[in-house]
Amino acid sequence: MRISVIGGGYVGLVTAACFAELGHDVRIIEIDKRKAEQINAGKPPIYEDKLEGILKQSIGKRLSAQCNYDGINDSDLIFICVGTPPQDDGSADLRYILSAAESIGSALSGSDSFHVVTVKSTVPPGTTESVVVPAVLRKSGKFSGIIGFCMNPEFLREGKAIDDFMHPDRIVIGGQSDKAIDVVKNAYEKLDAPIITTSLKAAEMIKYTSNAFLATKISFSNEIGNICKRIGIDVYDVMKGIGYDHRINPYFLNAGLGFGGSCFPKDVMALIRLAERNGEEPILLRSVIDVNEHQPGRIVKILYERIGEIKGKKIAVLGLAFKDNTDDVRDSRSIPVIEELLQKEANISAYDPMATETMKKIFPDLSYHSSVGDALEGADACLVLTEWPEFSRLKDEFNRMKNPVVIEGRKILSGFGTEGVCW
Ligand code: UDX
Repeated sequence: MRISVIGGGYVGLVTAACFAELGHDVRIIEIDKRKAEQINAGKPPIYEDKLEGILKQSIGKRLSAQCNYDGINDSDLIFICVGTPPQDDGSADLRYILSAAESIGSALSGSDSFHVVTVKSTVPPGTTESVVVPAVLRKSGKFSGIIGFCMNPEFLREGKAIDDFMHPDRIVIGGQSDKAIDVVKNAYEKLDAPIITTSLKAAEMIKYTSNAFLATKISFSNEIGNICKRIGIDVYDVMKGIGYDHRINPYFLNAGLGFGGSCFPKDVMALIRLAERNGEEPILLRSVIDVNEHQPGRIVKILYERIGEIKGKKIAVLGLAFKDNTDDVRDSRSIPVIEELLQKEANISAYDPMATETMKKIFPDLSYHSSVGDALEGADACLVLTEWPEFSRLKDEFNRMKNPVVIEGRKILSGFGTEGVCW
């Protein structure tokens, strides 16, 4: 099958490389010339486990990147994978979606064959129908039915995106017609996963709902953790106890500093704005965000309770990325923690296995170290902010601290007897 993927960012590149791995001919349209060149050289512009390997397998054979829309009228299937960044009020900015749809429409104007345009970007319900379909049809000069439209959300976790693509729990395809849906189904033919077909709008809502539900599990766990902390119970024992109930399941019940990353905070806020614009009061979703905003402040409060005045103290911060196995710091919970520490005039000594360079763009003046031991040297206290597995093996390194005060925002230092933010 011939596939075009508009956008060579995180979702687009993973999608394109995986479809090429499945044997399809894939072309990526990436307007950033430097990124397109990197992709063509087999070097992913982002870090993602296993991505470089599968990119190298296909690049120059079944996969290529280009900066224009030339030749996409050869494609049976065109995926829109451009960004939908939040606007100031939290709602999704759809300008890149509109511009991709218009460019696709223009590129398809001379074609007589059937093409399916499929939105993969996370967009508010109604976007494919009200923004993408009219823009493509207007620019192509064609009627509905000559071009098919689908919405096929992604559920890719950073750090596990290739496995998530190749072994999905489900594939959701919203479509205007069975003919269009069948084209998308064929692209996934080699994968063994249930396929759920719905309307365009329902597919868009499934993506938001899925992320909002997972975020709700985390905020719920944090709230229970905060109560547990007050009465001396380990919330991890409690969550293990409830997680065995298959109606609950054991995943996304890890309490701590809350959720960060490029999806959860942005998507929950976009859903809140969508609800408000439609006359609803999203009480639960607002609370999910509220709990999440409060967790980082709790670790600084505990720090103050343990060491007193923070001003001038050396605080080692272990972990900057929004989760382990990524260099991504977008909306990382370490950011509000560091901001508060800086406001209290702490001397921050930071270490992260991967995210130092990305964090330097936000906080250029912290003292960054290339090993945990160096970051801990002479520290008055240590805060653990990311669940990097390598932190679970730390032991002797803590002897280099001035005071053995270690507070965990993520439960990872098993057996060290440290205190947690909410356990
Ligand atoms: C998420 C969704 O999982 C994915 O399906 C979607 O398409 C994109 O957003 P990602 O942002 O890569 O993926 O990270 P994820 O592994 O889901 O973790 C998100 C955040 O929640 C991290 O900050 C993580 O530390 C936190 N988290 C996760 C918890 O605090 N507790 C948990 O139990 C699980």
